[in-house]
Amino acid sequence: MKAKSIIKVLDFGGQYSHLICRRVREVGVYAELEPFDTNIENLMNEDVKGIILSGGPASVYQRDAPICDLRVFRLGKPILGICYGLQLIAYLFDGKVSRSERREYGKAALYIDDKSELFQGLEDKIDCWMSHGDKVEELPRNFEVIAHTDNSPYAAIRSKDRLIFGVQFHPEVAHTPRGIDIIRNFVYRISKAERSWDMKNFVEEKVKEIREKVKDEKVLCAISGGVDSTTTAVLVDRAIGKNLTCIFVDHGLLRKKEAERVLEILERMKLNIVFVDAKEDFLEKLKGVKDPEEKRRVIGEEFVRVFTKKSLELGRFGWLAQGTLYPDVIESAKTGSKASRIKTHHNVAGLPDWIEFKLLEPLKELYKDEVREVAKLLGLPDEIVKRHPFPGPGLAVRIIGEVNEEKLRICREASYIVEEELIKANLYDKVWQAFAFVGDDKVVGVLGDERKLGYVVTIRIVESTDAMTADWLRIPYDLLAKISSRITNEVDGVTLVTYAISSKPPSTIEPQ
Ligand code: XMP
Repeated sequence: MKAKSIIKVLDFGGQYSHLICRRVREVGVYAELEPFDTNIENLMNEDVKGIILSGGPASVYQRDAPICDLRVFRLGKPILGICYGLQLIAYLFDGKVSRSERREYGKAALYIDDKSELFQGLEDKIDCWMSHGDKVEELPRNFEVIAHTDNSPYAAIRSKDRLIFGVQFHPEVAHTPRGIDIIRNFVYRISKAERSWDMKNFVEEKVKEIREKVKDEKVLCAISGGVDSTTTAVLVDRAIGKNLTCIFVDHGLLRKKEAERVLEILERMKLNIVFVDAKEDFLEKLKGVKDPEEKRRVIGEEFVRVFTKKSLELGRFGWLAQGTLYPDVIESAKTGSKASRIKTHHNVAGLPDWIEFKLLEPLKELYKDEVREVAKLLGLPDEIVKRHPFPGPGLAVRIIGEVNEEKLRICREASYIVEEELIKANLYDKVWQAFAFVGDDKVVGVLGDERKLGYVVTIRIVESTDAMTADWLRIPYDLLAKISSRITNEVDGVTLVTYAISSKPPSTIEPQ
């Protein structure tokens, strides 16, 4: 989709960089993340109305501190530095930045000294969220203070003669309740961006774009029943109708009742769908495989095989549609440079060259919450819109060690109970993912008067905004007790239930 106004966010490695982009989009303007050292040409286009410098873990006075191209400040475009971004501005414009005696983390009262631009419409005092070790100690040349806190005299500054602003706090996080108004002021009042980003327009323009791109060629779309692939399929279906074929493969690693549910929904949506039952093939290939990455490789390869075979049977396809999202694009761009690969996420990529598909990725500019909005607009049922993400390799990454029928049954049944209880407690929609996992450890239990060895099942329930970081849910004890007793009572072969209380990082969401 061609956006008329863009805000570029230079990413200095902060954990909230994506969140800044999302907030800008929330107020109605398209925002894109760029690496901090992006080529200056990527910022020069007249559609780029403003530039935000993100936070980051480095210190500006470190020898290898990340610094953007200095010409960024000569483009004449409005700039807002957040946290590290503010410190960088202060450092580059001859101010002084030094390590604070104590790290400031948490809520602080921000006293606003100047309400003319960035803080227009705000009260004299607002809550803000601080998270920094370094702080500005001397104001850069030709800058003035526009807000302060008890601990940070330069909590917000601005250039006296240019549209360059810096804030020490984080306006993008929910703990700065008026932060969204600050972002709105930067985007509209200061950068003069035009409102041009909303999901209704997105759908209309995407449908047109897909039609123009694909013309009368055939498109194949692999569907998992998750919100990304299903939304992709429905969007493409709206554009080209009968020339779309969807494939849904049951690899035997799906959740309880999943295949039936997904097929029923897809049929209700009148999509042209082909179902492949490949359970036996996948489980056969996984025999003896214990290593998590090896599991992913085996599953990925088998997907390709099943998929290729079926697509050749079905006729000639020019395009392959995938539900790739914006964070995936950014993550893959990083792969090979700084970010190391944590897990090899498999989808249908990596198909053999000889199929020669062109890729159709209509959601690749969107975040998950935007996809959910599109899904709603396209009339997808809540069951899909609100569905928790589910990994392509399915339950295989929730089974530690070899995948076998017994552990699959336990994992499937226990996860079903976790989901069911969360739905009943009205918590399902409030968490990112909730499931159970199982390994090979067995512990002693008592059944009646008898001693019995059984499996250990672990419950994992996490909150997250984008899966890059996650925190475990502080679930009410009574609910935990209910889930635990249901699992030991209803799932044969389980003698102990545990709850995973590690965040990401250092853990990951999936156990494998
Ligand atoms: P981790 O476990 O790395 O997961 O914290 C982050 C998010 O990605 C999902 N995930 C996967 N999705 N193929 C996928 O399609 C995979 O191999 C895979 N591994 C993890 C995970 O469910 C979470 O939402």
